[in-house]
Amino acid sequence: MAKPKVLVTRRWPVAVEAQLSELFDTELNTSDKPLTPEDFKSALQNYDAVLPTVTDKIGASALELARPQTRILANYGVGYSHIDLDRVGQHGMVVTNTPDVLSECTADLAMTLMLMAARRAGEGERELRAGDWTGWRPTHLVGSKVSGKTLGIIGYGRIGQEMAKRAHHGFGMKIIAYNRSKIAPDILAQCDATQVDSIDELLPLCDFISLHCPGGAENRHLIDARRLNLMRSDAFLINTARGEVIDEMALSQALWFETIGGAALDVFDGEPNINPVLQNCDNLVMLPHLGSATREAREAMGFRVLDNLRDFFDGREPRDRVN
Ligand code: DGY
Repeated sequence: MAKPKVLVTRRWPVAVEAQLSELFDTELNTSDKPLTPEDFKSALQNYDAVLPTVTDKIGASALELARPQTRILANYGVGYSHIDLDRVGQHGMVVTNTPDVLSECTADLAMTLMLMAARRAGEGERELRAGDWTGWRPTHLVGSKVSGKTLGIIGYGRIGQEMAKRAHHGFGMKIIAYNRSKIAPDILAQCDATQVDSIDELLPLCDFISLHCPGGAENRHLIDARRLNLMRSDAFLINTARGEVIDEMALSQALWFETIGGAALDVFDGEPNINPVLQNCDNLVMLPHLGSATREAREAMGFRVLDNLRDFFDGREPRDRVN
């Protein structure tokens, strides 16, 4: 029987690419450039499986086709708000993601951002590299203590829980969680966390707020000007979830007028383009979507995609089906 035809839309770790090529009739995008909408449309006509990433927006225009050949979109990444699940479903395509395997690394990066923002690490590095450091002084780049403070976690899924573990067990932080559904008591107990009923209730209670909810239309601008106003003037906002969750214009105002202490972002609305209003905020740390960027996580994500493809083409329900 002919092997299924599989398209990988970006470069992946070599070990995973090698295994994919062994198991399937695999086409690699060696240019590593995002596919254009036209390329994507033609991919859906020519491959049994397409393996997209967050940089492939799969919406109405890609899915205009009457009868695509593609039966499964096996996404390389846990977030899938770039895929229009309703439309994809209308074409009978299965969508899978890669949960679990990147939770620890993404939480590690959220901790990095929290510490960088609190301790003004970005400002310090910029000063040094510009040759502007004049030496130690008691009032130089004084930041905020992290240990023992209160961390609010919005979205208490796998990554949110990993963040809570690090903050609570490593830094003695008090954890307040907001989640759409009820969090099981044993999960809360792991970090002595308290669940609140609303984001509005959480915001004024916290020194740090870390976002771990999904993106997409339903969470667009979840953190808007009104909610930024509910934060304490010395509190910090951390985002490793999706850029659209924060209204970036409102955030830039809050940073500029110092109605909050600072922020740290790994994700941006419309990335890789960065809203210019963010560029001039000194009290903002920015990283280029590095949440899962470790050798270990990126390989594990690839192998998880492979598991899903094997499930699907062997006639089983893919373990990480999301639609
Ligand atoms: C994820 O896994 O969702 C990362 O943000 C990359 O898409």
